[in-house]
Amino acid sequence: MKALQLEKPQQFRFIETSEPPAPGPGEVLVRVQRVGICGTDYSGYLGKFPFFSYPRIPGHELGVTVLAVGPGVTKVKPGDRCAVEPYMNCGQCFPCRKGATNCCESMKVLGVMMDGGLTERMVLPAHKLYPANNLSAEQCALVETLAIGCHAVNRANPIAGEHVLVIGAGPIGLSVIEFAKLSGAKTIVMDLNEQRLDFVRTQMGVPDTICSKGDGAELEALKQMTQGSLAQVVVDATGSNKSMAHAMTYCSFTARLVYVGITQAEVTFPHAPVMHRRELTLLASRNALPPDFPRIIKLIEDGKIDTRPWITHRVPLGQIIERFPTFTKPDSGVIKAIVDMES
Ligand SMILES: NC(=O)c1ccc[n+]([C@@H]2O[C@H](COP(=O)([O-])OP(=O)(O)OC[C@H]3O[C@@H](n4cnc5c(N)ncnc54)[C@H](O)[C@@H]3O)[C@@H](O)[C@H]2O)c1
Ligand SMILES: [Zn+2]
Ligand SMILES: [Zn+2]
Repeated sequence: MKALQLEKPQQFRFIETSEPPAPGPGEVLVRVQRVGICGTDYSGYLGKFPFFSYPRIPGHELGVTVLAVGPGVTKVKPGDRCAVEPYMNCGQCFPCRKGATNCCESMKVLGVMMDGGLTERMVLPAHKLYPANNLSAEQCALVETLAIGCHAVNRANPIAGEHVLVIGAGPIGLSVIEFAKLSGAKTIVMDLNEQRLDFVRTQMGVPDTICSKGDGAELEALKQMTQGSLAQVVVDATGSNKSMAHAMTYCSFTARLVYVGITQAEVTFPHAPVMHRRELTLLASRNALPPDFPRIIKLIEDGKIDTRPWITHRVPLGQIIERFPTFTKPDSGVIKAIVDMES
């Protein structure tokens, strides 16, 4: 079988791998049809992601078809098209036992800490597959990205009438926007990049955007849009520690602030007056939970999430080595690039 391996930072190569074994109890053999590429893969490629180890077959955003099922598997059957939850959790640790499988203490994410989906066929646990026969394979590959935004919004639980400010309109911010809109809250999006805000206005149906220039005008603009109260929910999806610290100033009194972007740098802010006086709640958000996957599949099926604007680039597997580096450039206009494993 052919697979694409990231041998070391900035060096992909095609390798020959052996066929996966027949699926054991609770396991499923799948054919990989589409693989989405995301920021984690770009960071792994550039050697900037601390949890990425080499050599590694990347790929955690997968659209697959079931080829064979092992003993005892009833959740899926051969021929089913599926989305995949790529978070391989242990099932034993404290967070797993309490149902927080998204933050397992010894989590292995497919394609990051273990070999992933840029391969022809693979064996996966049946309970990590979500049948989605009414979705295309590329829509299946998009489900995981959407799950990140779904979980981040669930952390804060916005309700109709509230204002949600999403800072950072990259793919993760866009996935947050989808679920902020579905909550019925009024969504406002902030970014430094006018091109990304233009995409939000024209493709995501969010008219209220703020271009952040760092001159204080953004706070005034937010006050205007929220009748002076500021945002009851702020979700920072930038991965910038400076933005994350500053995000508090956009919070209304009693607001919830969610950090879905990730930084290894220190996030420093004074406790008083802003956090204390406004009695803010600060929430982290990691990965997503199992029920998010069928929910997202249904939302796409019902047309409540339109996946068309999302997929900006489609690449046959054979061209990925030469095209991958261009996707890491901010001016490439990539929102989501999908690798076609079948052409
Ligand atoms: N929580 C999770 O489980 C999870 C999963 C995947 C990715 N992530 C993280 O989400 C973050 C975003 O990922 P992405 O792929 O969308 O990244 P991205 O780089 O494509 O998007 C980030 C956006 O933030 C904007 N931005 C940066 N600094 C800003 C500032 N000071 N003010 C306003 N906007 C600013 C950028 O212009 C860009 O549009 C990353 O940190 C990534 O690691 C988290
Ligand atoms: Zn991803
Ligand atoms: Zn665990």
